[in-house]
Amino acid sequence: MVLVYLNGEFVPQAEARISVDDRGFLFADGVYEVVRVYDGRPFLMDAHLRRMRQGLHALRIGDPGVDGLAAIAERLLDENRLRSGDATIYIQITRGAAPRAHVFPPAGTPPTVYVAAKPFQPHPPEYHRDGVAALTVPDMRWSRCDIKSVSLLANVLAKQAAKEAGAFEALFVRDGIVLEGSHSNVFAVYDGALVTYPACNYILNGITRQKVFDLAGQLGIPVVEAPIPLDRLFTASEVFLSGTTTEIMPVTRVDGREIGDGRPGPVTQRLQRAYRESI
Ligand code: PDD
Repeated sequence: MVLVYLNGEFVPQAEARISVDDRGFLFADGVYEVVRVYDGRPFLMDAHLRRMRQGLHALRIGDPGVDGLAAIAERLLDENRLRSGDATIYIQITRGAAPRAHVFPPAGTPPTVYVAAKPFQPHPPEYHRDGVAALTVPDMRWSRCDIKSVSLLANVLAKQAAKEAGAFEALFVRDGIVLEGSHSNVFAVYDGALVTYPACNYILNGITRQKVFDLAGQLGIPVVEAPIPLDRLFTASEVFLSGTTTEIMPVTRVDGREIGDGRPGPVTQRLQRAYRESI
């Protein structure tokens, strides 16, 4: 039996119920976080909760107690016997349930808070070892991609397009610039330096992206935040993705064209090792 947390209670998942009037269901009016758990220990939880507070603030949803979520996650890991192996914590907060109207619900409407801890099936090891393919797609998202909103329709369609093309990830391209993946950030390597799109409203500033900055600093690898035009992406010596579930993933083909020599490069591999060691 899987136990989840919903609105102040720990309940069996099969008994967890939300209203059909929930604004998460009706309007995708909410935010979420995915936290990776390694051998029972949540990785970078504080950074995820900080971003969740920022998202709630941006959407003007009152904080229903983000400070308490880490302890709730710990209890779910215990109750669901996830203290070894791979798992994820999923947290979603919506503006709550109220009769459907675009304007905010009456003051005092409690946000809906949902937390689940589930086993995570890691990607096949060859993905991280040999690299994956990516597909580019036009970015049709709104212009507040910095908010980790549950409104993910464009991301869903992009990832499905990638899957149908035999690729691991879809890369969003807006005005000829490569921004990020459907569920990951994108880095390219030129002359040994990392280049990635600047943290602004057009991308999610990934927690793993920020971790890559830290690790690169420790390893003496320069990082430049700058736009990467799509045609320049193909001249990179290496490309990789970063993300909570993606970790650091080499990309060896984009739109069927080889990146570099078609194999994961040394800079990506150094960062992968440093990432593993930091866990
Ligand atoms: N996705 N960009 C987008 C659009 C994302 O959805 C994600 C994460 C990232 C990477 O962020 P982080 O390093 O904080 O995981 C970048 C999560 C994992 C998901 O939707 O499952």
